[in-house]
Amino acid sequence: MAGISQQTIDLIRNSADIVDVVGEFVNLQAAGKNMKGLCPFHSEKTPSFFVSKERQIFNCFGCGEKGNSVTFIQKYKHMTYVEALHYLAEKYHIDLEYDSRHVETHNTSDNLYKANDQALKYFQLNLLNIKSGKEALDYLVNRGLDIKTIEEFELGYALNSGKTLFNQLTKDFQPLDLLNAGLINQGDTDYYDLFRGRIMFPIRDESNKVIAFSGRVFGNAENTAKYVNTAQTEIFSKSHVLYNLNNALPHVRKNNRVVLMEGYMDVIKASIAQVKETVCSMGTQLTTDQALKLKKYTDNVVICYDGDRAGKEATYKAIKILEDVKMNVQIAIMPDGMDPDDFITNNPNFKEFIDNNLTDQYEFVYRMITGKKDLTKAREIEVCKNQLFDFFVKTSGTIRDIYLNKFAADALIDINTLKADFHQTQINNRITKTLKSSLVRTKIVPKNLPKFRKAEIVIINYYFYNPEFRASVDAKGSSIFFENKDNWTIMFTAQETNKTFTTGSFLVSVKSSLSENLRDLLDHILFREGYEYTFSEFESCIKTLEEANLNDKINSITEDIEEAKQNGDSEDVIKELYLQRLEIQRNINAMKRRETK
Ligand code: GTP
Ligand code: MN
Repeated sequence: MAGISQQTIDLIRNSADIVDVVGEFVNLQAAGKNMKGLCPFHSEKTPSFFVSKERQIFNCFGCGEKGNSVTFIQKYKHMTYVEALHYLAEKYHIDLEYDSRHVETHNTSDNLYKANDQALKYFQLNLLNIKSGKEALDYLVNRGLDIKTIEEFELGYALNSGKTLFNQLTKDFQPLDLLNAGLINQGDTDYYDLFRGRIMFPIRDESNKVIAFSGRVFGNAENTAKYVNTAQTEIFSKSHVLYNLNNALPHVRKNNRVVLMEGYMDVIKASIAQVKETVCSMGTQLTTDQALKLKKYTDNVVICYDGDRAGKEATYKAIKILEDVKMNVQIAIMPDGMDPDDFITNNPNFKEFIDNNLTDQYEFVYRMITGKKDLTKAREIEVCKNQLFDFFVKTSGTIRDIYLNKFAADALIDINTLKADFHQTQINNRITKTLKSSLVRTKIVPKNLPKFRKAEIVIINYYFYNPEFRASVDAKGSSIFFENKDNWTIMFTAQETNKTFTTGSFLVSVKSSLSENLRDLLDHILFREGYEYTFSEFESCIKTLEEANLNDKINSITEDIEEAKQNGDSEDVIKELYLQRLEIQRNINAMKRRETK
């Protein structure tokens, strides 16, 4: 299929300034470096819709809609990608050139991967260059890394000057690509490199593509963050990514476990010490999404976080996340205040330590909850008790019994009283939960839903049923639009979620990105029964939506016609509108004919 040429697409994307494009439909006001206004995609009274001129993107913090100028037009005008390109080409007087080799996709990501890859090589050469890289290299060698390890982990160095990376990469890339890849920033008058004077750690995804960087200061840099990461981009979101997963995968499979650490240096040093099935998150708490990602490869996790208070708190939180996705968790507790990097420097038998000194998650949690507490004080006992109930309600009855007995002994209370307390708490929780869900139920299911609203609910239900229906909905692209904002947010979130998950993990993963209200709504939708899960039921719902969308268009043209008449517009204008309306009606008729066949 001949499509619009890449040059034309680039030209359109470079000409269609986001502030200009959005500003035609949304009243925007300056807010710091950005612009803000009332979101056109959900109803709101205070603005949570932001537009960044620098990054050429929009983002609504209320409903989560985000994208660039092309996707804005797609969403706002309910157009396909190609229709949106045509629309913008016309607006900015750009002649369309076609290219027989090129087929449009939604994907501008390719350029971003390529730019990152080129940046990586550039950083690597800077580090190995005797002149520019000497100090950085000395620093790494002093920390115990040899050249082989440095090259294996593809470490690099970003020169300490304004825009050398920019100058190098603009030989092959548009500034917009580099901005979108998060490699450069735009100042008032000029572009500048994001990473300056830093040791560079490339971040690759599981398919080994370079998606981001993290840069560490060294030497006597002051008043600056120890690490700077690539900001969120089209291809990178910190909370979804695990550092070193690409290298760790074969070892994770072989050893059937993954070791989770806090820092890049910890991971690299562990690899030197022959523990190679190791990953870390990027300075953020472990997320459900990351846990699910690991679960694709193994059920066994060893947490080896720093041995300080913060590391222990983080371990506790990670255990809860990993328990929720049903992983087996063990903990390698580092001696006071040490991180794995320190440990390995002082003790070459790290592998032996990690194989033989593991604490199970229950023991760890029990010590964590009761450890610093004075169990002679009633108040402290009560606090511990509730935290223990909270955690051990999810474990097996046997494990729960073991730790309730232990607590009864440690706090000198009667085990039967403690157990009675536990059961009462469960009953209370259940009552609260039922009350809450009955409230939700009466609120979200008004009787007599219009037909298209019912169809939205059925389609969401099918979407979570199996991958086939997911693929069919995704293939419909923008011809499917939900009128109801909540339904739409659920569908949009689901469409943005990784489809390689099994149905169960897919659901968990979608839910982790939804607000509590929408989670309840989704539960409710999935709870409804009586579906056949046939393609004919599915198709008929899709038709209902498509027809509703077309009827919407008819209504809006009808309004335009009335307005044109009142304005005394020319016959020609009005005739053109009639023709448009007739054309849409023809489509509706054709659709109905197909339906009755
Ligand atoms: P070294 O200090 O070189 O040993 O690195 P580390 O990896 O051990 O760092 P540390 O234990 O201090 O922090 C753990 C992780 O948190 C790092 O690997 C980073 O991902 C992240 N981190 C630490 N400091 C910062 C910071 O200033 N900014 C950001 N964005 N992340 C940080
Ligand atoms: Mn460290």
